[in-house]
Amino acid sequence: MAPVSVVVIGAGDRGTGYARWALRHPDRASVVAVAEPREVRRARFAAEHGIAARNVAVDWRQLADRGRLADAVLICTQDRMHAGPAEAFAALGYHILLEKPMAPDEAGCRRIVAAVEKAGVMLAVGHVMRYTPYTRAVKEIVDSGQLGDIMSVQHLEPVGFWHQVHSYVRGNWRRADLAASMLMAKSCHDLDWLVHILGRVPARVTSFGHLTHFTAANRPAGAADRCVACSVEASCPYSAPRLYRGLLEEGERRWPLSAVIENFTPAALEQALNDGPYGRCVYACDNDVVDHQVVALEFPGATTATFTMTAFSQAAGRATRLFGTRAELTGDGRAIRVYDFLTRAERLITPAPTGAMNAAGGHGGGDAGLMDAFTGAVATGNRDLILSGPRESLASHLAVFAAERARLNGTVETITPHPGKTNALSRTDGGDSPGTR
Ligand SMILES: NC(=O)c1ccc[n+]([C@@H]2O[C@H](COP(=O)([O-])OP(=O)(O)OC[C@H]3O[C@@H](n4cnc5c(N)ncnc54)[C@H](O)[C@@H]3O)[C@@H](O)[C@H]2O)c1
Repeated sequence: MAPVSVVVIGAGDRGTGYARWALRHPDRASVVAVAEPREVRRARFAAEHGIAARNVAVDWRQLADRGRLADAVLICTQDRMHAGPAEAFAALGYHILLEKPMAPDEAGCRRIVAAVEKAGVMLAVGHVMRYTPYTRAVKEIVDSGQLGDIMSVQHLEPVGFWHQVHSYVRGNWRRADLAASMLMAKSCHDLDWLVHILGRVPARVTSFGHLTHFTAANRPAGAADRCVACSVEASCPYSAPRLYRGLLEEGERRWPLSAVIENFTPAALEQALNDGPYGRCVYACDNDVVDHQVVALEFPGATTATFTMTAFSQAAGRATRLFGTRAELTGDGRAIRVYDFLTRAERLITPAPTGAMNAAGGHGGGDAGLMDAFTGAVATGNRDLILSGPRESLASHLAVFAAERARLNGTVETITPHPGKTNALSRTDGGDSPGTR
């Protein structure tokens, strides 16, 4: 079978990462065109993939204007730049891998679903957590019924102190109006994961959360606007020089350092610390997204769940406990423990290790799993390989929008089931009927 040809829109961290999967699997996919406005990124990407000059563009519209150049497109632009290219490339007949979030607003998400359904093309949203060996193993255990009825769920996303300040205080996702809410930017993965594992869309949600710590009010006495000029930098856990100089010295070339500098030299880093957004004091930024949040969810069948995201943790894997009527499952993104109430025996399941559960680690095998599934679906026409298609992704995005409305308005939001069953939901549970799992 010929490799699937793909166009990459946005040669940033995500676009580069997915494209490297193609380099490692030349029999499965080949990158034939790229659009990227930043010159260093564009040239580096084109050279790495040997892309012909006529297929190297500054803006995605230039490639869209040329009709269909490939089987598929990987849309890896920033959050607010997803709906436009998704609609345009769907209309051209491209199958689409679209980074999450689909769009930062409900109307944008619905437009994307309408566009791909009208064109009849496949869409895989970047819910990479669905594709990890760990998630596949948890899902298999849940679907086997060995936990009994799942009554309660406890799920934690310990974002991590340095990741929070890198992305959500100093970085691209620091403001909801520039990107998306914290819940959408970071934890659309978590609500999507709960929907996927339980095979049900929540019926009611509420949420609390605040930006409390990373504000001017908590700025220590003697702090400067930039870490390099700060008299208390040495005692600050959020020091930018400590994080980024350390990574450069270790020879790191990937995220998060790749967001800070394009050329990996001490001089480029010092300039970024002096002038760029990543050198700012975390108490003197223009951030507004929350640094801690909880969501309470009620699923059909009376299953209750709580979700916590917090900045104030060691960066670690998500931790989950599923409390069933016959057994309890505990997972940390690597190991799964199942304690059976009848036998009182504990079983340990350790799916094959696949790297850290962050961007540098390929999200525990999720990035590779998504590329494998997406290119497999395009090559064979088998849509069932895609676990994060338009309807199931829309359903979990709608739950995120509802939770965020609840947080902002102090309400309990009811989620109306979306007409039309999603593949993943109908495969596992038949949708919204009480008692299903
Ligand atoms: N699935 C995941 O786990 C995961 C993880 C991190 C980020 N993301 C999402 O992936 C997306 C990309 O994130 P990233 O970290 O790679 O960001 P990035 O900023 O590194 O990459 C985006 C790239 O798009 C380019 N771009 C801007 N305008 C363009 C245009 N008109 N045409 C073509 N390219 C254009 C930018 O120059 C940039 O290089 C975001 O939506 C983000 O939320 C998903």
